[in-house]
Amino acid sequence: MRCARTVAGRVRGGRRAALSTTDAVRFSFDADPTLAQRPQVQSPLSSVRMGRTEPSVFAEFSALSDKHNAVNLGQGFPDYPMPDFVKEAAVEAIRADYNQYSRPAGHARLVERLAERYSPKFGRSIDPYAEIGVVGGATNAIFSALVALVDPDDEVVCVEPYFDAPKIAADLMGAKTIGVPLRADWADTAADWKLDLDELDDALNERTKLLVLNTPHNPTGKVFSREELEGIARVVKKYPRLLVLSDEVYESMVYDGLEHHHIGSVEGMFERTISVFSIGKTFSATGWRVGYAVGPEPLIAPLVRVHQASNFSTPTPLQIASAIAFDKAAEFGYFEDLTATLQAKRDKLCRLLRTAGLSPITPQGGYFLLADTSKIGVPTEFPLWEAPEDLPLRDRRDFAVCRQLCERAGVTAIPASAFFSFGHRHITDSLARFCFCKKDDTLNEAFRRIVHSGLNATWV
Ligand SMILES: Cc1ncc(COP(=O)(O)O)c(C=O)c1O
Repeated sequence: MRCARTVAGRVRGGRRAALSTTDAVRFSFDADPTLAQRPQVQSPLSSVRMGRTEPSVFAEFSALSDKHNAVNLGQGFPDYPMPDFVKEAAVEAIRADYNQYSRPAGHARLVERLAERYSPKFGRSIDPYAEIGVVGGATNAIFSALVALVDPDDEVVCVEPYFDAPKIAADLMGAKTIGVPLRADWADTAADWKLDLDELDDALNERTKLLVLNTPHNPTGKVFSREELEGIARVVKKYPRLLVLSDEVYESMVYDGLEHHHIGSVEGMFERTISVFSIGKTFSATGWRVGYAVGPEPLIAPLVRVHQASNFSTPTPLQIASAIAFDKAAEFGYFEDLTATLQAKRDKLCRLLRTAGLSPITPQGGYFLLADTSKIGVPTEFPLWEAPEDLPLRDRRDFAVCRQLCERAGVTAIPASAFFSFGHRHITDSLARFCFCKKDDTLNEAFRRIVHSGLNATWV
């Protein structure tokens, strides 16, 4: 199955059409004139820095989903229970009276367990008391890192499409965010999305403080190979003050026998990389709000100080439960099960969407996929894939498609252009993001609703 339209905009008249690299650098997120059309109005009492933030597409589509009682394949959380041994771990921790503040950087029991887990993965002995910070979920790690390391007027480069947390934090810090897109002329699988290293290099300069990476990647499902990470590392090393924030929350969800690689384990990269992980994603416990960062002490110490100022510490019983869950995971064959279950769900959703005429780009990891929605007609004259670059975000074709899917079919997906910066959104005007960490019944019901709505056959 091929998805020519998904990534059109790249090739126009046989040549690379999208943007020259200089154009790409010029377009920064804050140059987006469509931000004026905000569905969520800022409070007049909020600070100036709040005015720099964009409204959340997830909040918008979750509200729409609730309103239409839709099957929500938009948001990334499992709708099935966490494993019993993980539940028991939390009960055990509370019964054992682990109910008071913990050490701000993380309870000894958890950081020691994490050091054991990550030392072999990073090929070095990780100091549990200096090189690990346990925080309130990966989102909190990302926010704390940005506050700790980025100054106003610094530049932050994000590989896009991107998960929005680093961008929101950069906006709040008054930093300038620049997007460097993954590109594909033709995408069957997420491996077809590639980062152009020249384009990355052109986006970096002496003002760039942080490069934000994400593997396995949300929303494409791309898993960066070791060679790709080594290529990125070579570019990064050209810039002495450049740090890397590597979001690896889906590290345990990699399919087809592929392996997850840490850029922090590439030679010379540990010293400048904060790697971020999530207990919520790893153990289907997104409501626990436990995450952690691994990196060198000069990066972890300031991150922990920000976390200490905002949260002080992370819920102690859930930290202990996380340590117990890691201890018991092997006994229950947990990680093998997790991969097999999610790979089967990935295959199922790909099959269902393909049958419904929405061509999926098969993900290599994570729990999202992008699918081509060209078969879904929209009532007005929305351009199929070559929308003008200054088209307001919420007027884009993929937003119209996802609104229709939600309102008329009762299925929620997220328009993919929301994951791109202004200037690069045309790359994805026909794509939508679907989440597959859902019960089989939920996936079947979504398929039934799409087909019954007839929306999948309205394109002429
Ligand atoms: C790439 C990525 N990073 C981080 C997060 C947030 O993780 P947590 O729930 O631990 O804050 C998400 C959640 O969807 C994500 O997709």
